Amino acid sequence: MKPHPLFVREARGAHVWDLDGDRYVDYVMAWGPILLGHSDPRVVEAVREVATRMQVVGTSHELEYLAAEGVLAAVPHGERLLWSNTGTEAVQVALRLARAATGRRRVLKFARSYHGWHDSVYAGLDESDSGKPALPASKGQSPSALDDLLVATFNDVAMAGRLLGEAVERDIAAVLIDPILSNGGVEAPAPDFLPTLRSLCDRHGVVLIFDEVIAGFRIARGGAAEKYGVPPDLSVFGKAMAGGFTQSAVVGRADLVDQVTSGVVHAGTFNSNPIALAAVAATMTALAEPGLYEALEATSAAFERAVGGVLAEEPGGGALHRVGSLLQYVPSGGGTGLHGTGGLWELILAGMLREGFLFMPSGKVFLSAAHSASDVRATAEALSTVLGRLRATRT
Ligand SMILES: Cc1ncc(COP(=O)(O)O)c(C=O)c1O
Repeated sequence: MKPHPLFVREARGAHVWDLDGDRYVDYVMAWGPILLGHSDPRVVEAVREVATRMQVVGTSHELEYLAAEGVLAAVPHGERLLWSNTGTEAVQVALRLARAATGRRRVLKFARSYHGWHDSVYAGLDESDSGKPALPASKGQSPSALDDLLVATFNDVAMAGRLLGEAVERDIAAVLIDPILSNGGVEAPAPDFLPTLRSLCDRHGVVLIFDEVIAGFRIARGGAAEKYGVPPDLSVFGKAMAGGFTQSAVVGRADLVDQVTSGVVHAGTFNSNPIALAAVAATMTALAEPGLYEALEATSAAFERAVGGVLAEEPGGGALHRVGSLLQYVPSGGGTGLHGTGGLWELILAGMLREGFLFMPSGKVFLSAAHSASDVRATAEALSTVLGRLRATRT
């Protein structure tokens, strides 16, 4: 965390308090999980209630089903669900299901997308290399783990057509896509992109996997499938699904998921731990309340207008991209890569922290149902002050 980490003692609603007791408006929101607001009483109470009865049991319990029903009711293509702990793990489960179903081994992903830190998908930082094997993005990564990964360009329909047209020869089992490129600049898919991927996958026997670890329950209750009207075969959810607890899920077609009863191994001591599933069940109930997504959209649009307006007035100030309650600062002249942005952001980040507003170094902005119109107004005013100060030091 830049310019330095903030040490938090308490987090409630849209705010965090540091060790000195200073309050900040929080736009980090734990990097995505906090959609209802920190310490939402409905989630905290559900967790408290179960924690006094059991912790982890290693056999079945009712919450596995209650939480699953909540998720499946929200997701349009949700026929079956598997529980896992983190997004990284659940992506691996989805890929295993796709390989088992197709008998093929390669995965096509898109440049600037993040699907967890696992060796087999952490690759291809900013490169966009039309289907060449990917390169490791971290020291210590096994290069051979990436033999099965191809990288294409987001929103490039022609490239996807070319690569998937050769799915059999190239041994492609799955297309793995974050439909809004959450970590690579936040971009809406072009209108024909997801429908084209859907029909190419159908035609060439490829499993279409949406990585909705950030998008899920954030851009719509039913995630990308609801927002864009394109059902994948499998979706991976995490973060906002569990209201601040550690839980992920693979959701989708029954015939794919049911392979765990016929030879596909999915293991994990904490896969359906009652504490996190109590949080999932409570979060699903809260998210189903009428008006929640409309209010979230109104706050997010107000943020885009007010904060984006202040940026637009500043020469070289940059702009905002937005899909639902996820926004991204984009420097003037573009250039947002995986995990980061440039331009004035680093200076804005430091200035806003001193004014009592916590943002992410990457320039992503996470809004929640707990952010208010007055939080948004105060943010725009503080940004004006910070930019004015920067202008004064530059001249
Ligand atoms: C789109 C996406 N997929 C997968 C992951 C990995 O999830 P986790 O950090 O829970 O392992 C992330 C994490 O930020 C993500 O943004």
